[in-house]
Amino acid sequence: MAEQEDQRGGDGGPINLWVADPGFETDPRIVEAFDYAVRRGCTHYFPAAGFDEFALPKAVAKYYLDGFGANLDPLGEVSATHGAQEALSLSIQACTRPGDEIIVPEPTYSVLIEKLEIFGVKPVFVSLMEEDSWRLDPGAIASAVTDKTRMIFVCNPNNPTGTVCSREDMDALAAILRANRGVSMLLDECYARILYDGGAHRTLLGERELMDQLFVVGSFSKAYAMTGWRLGYVVAGKKNTERIKRLSFEYNGGVSYAVQYAGAVALGECSDFVERMVGELTRRRRAMLAGLSELRDVPCVVPQAGFEVFPDFSAYSRNSKALVAALEKEARVKTMPGVEYGPSGEGHIRLVFCSEDSERISEGISRIGRCLPPRRS
Ligand SMILES: Cc1ncc(COP(=O)(O)O)c(C=O)c1O
Repeated sequence: MAEQEDQRGGDGGPINLWVADPGFETDPRIVEAFDYAVRRGCTHYFPAAGFDEFALPKAVAKYYLDGFGANLDPLGEVSATHGAQEALSLSIQACTRPGDEIIVPEPTYSVLIEKLEIFGVKPVFVSLMEEDSWRLDPGAIASAVTDKTRMIFVCNPNNPTGTVCSREDMDALAAILRANRGVSMLLDECYARILYDGGAHRTLLGERELMDQLFVVGSFSKAYAMTGWRLGYVVAGKKNTERIKRLSFEYNGGVSYAVQYAGAVALGECSDFVERMVGELTRRRRAMLAGLSELRDVPCVVPQAGFEVFPDFSAYSRNSKALVAALEKEARVKTMPGVEYGPSGEGHIRLVFCSEDSERISEGISRIGRCLPPRRS
């Protein structure tokens, strides 16, 4: 598996435990598929002769059929998007108006919280409990539903905690949707293929009668090391898909067919790439957790998925932004402040283990250990 060329300079530069961009090259089969599509004429508004306009939606539908027994209509229920970023934005815009409420179990994906601010949609935070391994709390979500609730956001697997919803959690979420037909669910499944310790991902897409309430978002960035390709998708009911496609067309006129073709090859032919990457990530996760276990009073829930950990540094500081700034300056380790992921994240720091190799991860954690402020009394 090819690693990206080291561009950090002689002293190795700051250690990057900050940005969730896999430090691996995209599989050559995916690059070749793109190259092939461009050379064969996928350089116009419409795909070249011989290329299926719906190659990517069909590959996404097949992925959900093979993996989860979900029967999707690729033409009417799947939209290609510019990364999951755009898929999340379009879903929120298709479903909400300014002033609506969206229930957000947190800590959760920080950019989602930023999007709500931009769209004028009010987040109603439901705190997850670290003592409960940050597990989703469907009971608390159900209690938070009001007349103003238009959506519930669930990041599964969760960034930054690495928690994966159990079958019971998913059943409980489905029950909430059945009891509240005016409420939709935005399910972020970007980390669905990066699972550890034999874990399993579950989706609600098999529940046909919930289809009009679902927006299920996926990404090629993480599992296929394709962050720069900007490719994702959203699966939704037919009416919502029409809205999403309309919005997408108005924003950017759709996603490049050559990129979509490359994504279809990734989904259809490159599972072995994902498996090898998860193998290497498993080693890096071990290095990260071993390093953290050496630090005094820094508890950390073991992530079941993704490539982030979310340790609690509150024994040292309750101000995660100040702590992150100090660690970057003094330890030369870049990290993310936990408060960005919601109020319950304060006192925590998000560390990623996908960008640097195991040795640099261990070195990064040792440096953090050496530069921590005195413990609070
Ligand atoms: C949970 C989650 N959702 C969505 C995204 C955005 O992914 P993309 O690169 O496909 O826009 C990320 C990227 O960090 C993420 O962690």
